[in-house]
Amino acid sequence: MLKLAIFISGTGSNMKAIVESIERGDIENVSPALVLSSTEKAKGLHYAKEKGIDTHVFSYKGLSQDEINAGLLDILAKYDIDMIILAGFMKILPAELTRKYKDKILNIHPSLIPKFCGKGFYGMRVHEAVIEAGEKESGATVHFVDEGVDTGKIILQEKCAVYETDSAEDLQKRVLKIEHTIYSKAIDIVANCSSRKTIY
Ligand code: GRF
Repeated sequence: MLKLAIFISGTGSNMKAIVESIERGDIENVSPALVLSSTEKAKGLHYAKEKGIDTHVFSYKGLSQDEINAGLLDILAKYDIDMIILAGFMKILPAELTRKYKDKILNIHPSLIPKFCGKGFYGMRVHEAVIEAGEKESGATVHFVDEGVDTGKIILQEKCAVYETDSAEDLQKRVLKIEHTIYSKAIDIVANCSSRKTIY
């Protein structure tokens, strides 16, 4: 059984969708061992606690880079974590950690990478930029995390239409629906690919 650490900073709707998929048996051989939040204000912490999942608040505030590295590595080692799932985590992971957990850290981004990603493209800004550019389609991408921002290998991507009448909020809702299904599929692929011979 692979132990997942799900990293959040806000609502945690992706975390919730993943936990529900695990409960339904849609993702095999994984268990949510830890929900780590960059802030105590993250709403998603309540859900994790309700579900009886261990939670940990790890704020970068006032910490040196070395303290961030050591603090994160310590907590991951304590829970013997196999895979890290970034689900709206608003902090950059230290390079030390991305190297140590190479091909074991996943992220979801609310656009069709390589479009509308990288520094400055987060939250509603992504959807605003898509609409402003007059795109006809958008979507969500699950990818591995490397040392860059949204630059790791793509695991899964799914598209949706962008309509002329869409507001950024409309598009966000449509994309979020996709996120809630493809993230679980991508975790299942990565967690179980060697046994199923799935190529990603
Ligand atoms: C999602 O749109 C995700 O793509 C992005 O951050 C948002 C997190 O939403 N990385 P939630 O906290 O999972 O509801």
